[in-house]
Amino acid sequence: MNKHIAVIGGDGIGPEVTAQAVKALNAVAQKFGHTFKYTNALGGAAAIDQCGDPMPDSTIATCKECDAVLFGAFGDPKYDNDPNAKVRPEQGLLKIRKDLGLYANIRPIFTFESLIHKSPIKKEIVENSDFVVVRELTGGMYFGMKGRTEDGKTAFDTNTYSTYEIERILKTAFDLAASRRKKVTVVDKANILATSRLWRETAMRISQEYPEVTTDYMFVDNASMRIITTPKDFDVIVTENTFGDILTDEASVITGSMGMMPSASVGTYTSLFEPIHGSYPQAAGKNIANPMAAILSAAMLLEMAFELKPEAEAIKSAVNKAIKNGIVTEDIAEGKAFSTTEVGDYIATSILETK
Ligand code: IPM
Ligand code: MN
Repeated sequence: MNKHIAVIGGDGIGPEVTAQAVKALNAVAQKFGHTFKYTNALGGAAAIDQCGDPMPDSTIATCKECDAVLFGAFGDPKYDNDPNAKVRPEQGLLKIRKDLGLYANIRPIFTFESLIHKSPIKKEIVENSDFVVVRELTGGMYFGMKGRTEDGKTAFDTNTYSTYEIERILKTAFDLAASRRKKVTVVDKANILATSRLWRETAMRISQEYPEVTTDYMFVDNASMRIITTPKDFDVIVTENTFGDILTDEASVITGSMGMMPSASVGTYTSLFEPIHGSYPQAAGKNIANPMAAILSAAMLLEMAFELKPEAEAIKSAVNKAIKNGIVTEDIAEGKAFSTTEVGDYIATSILETK
């Protein structure tokens, strides 16, 4: 297979972990006889420094030309601490989501047997948890009308959703559930929010097209508790942008390390794959960041964008093997910690040794 992948390393540890994901993809290409071509593109604080724009049009154009996008992380503390900064790296992230039409953010939550003890939650609660949060990514408060009154003393962010936007994300969730354990939990705040009532009304209609899937409805406050008290009750959770943002950070503690969790953003023009962790600026350039989330994002890319399942499995087993043999970075190491590049090299070599 011949494929072209756009690579946006971004800020902080983004470029370092993304480089390990590319290593894994190259190993897959060599092992399975594919040709992957890469085009590096600018984004985030790195792009602000170079051209004053966190998401240059040239990067959007590159992504649209490619078959998939591999993404690192955006964010730099020099903008976090300046409330008056006119441009921020995060704006680049919102722009790429909007311009590529990446409306469905898919965040799987799963556990690794040998890492269970790293979770702050009791072993018997998290063991074998396996669910997916489908977060709507191009609507809601993130993109609704926002601003300040003239006197500057009142601010607003509007939460807007159309039936069309809700329908398409629900379909993603129901299709996914149909291929899994056949349960969808629609998370909203329908006792308070008008948008949530439209979500629920739409979900009640769409669910009828999926008679084999069970549909549950849960208020977001309750869901935030259930995710960590009874995570095994969930199969697919579908929710709006802001709720999904908060719940997925919460859910990541089930695994024990944020450095392990990949994600996919599926869209109209292409799909983008990225770790759910951020740019972790304190670790940038130190060769200590955990590359596994980025490498597992490359596995998601192979499976979802290119439908290369055995290839994706080869990456996942190599990651599992690295964990089992203790070839891991300091965030999850018990004894000796390995560097980002050592972990990446080990995983690439294991892929090449796949039987
Ligand atoms: C995420 C991040 C982003 C979001 C930020 C960096 C804009 O937290 O991908 O979850 O809020 O969506
Ligand atoms: Mn977030």
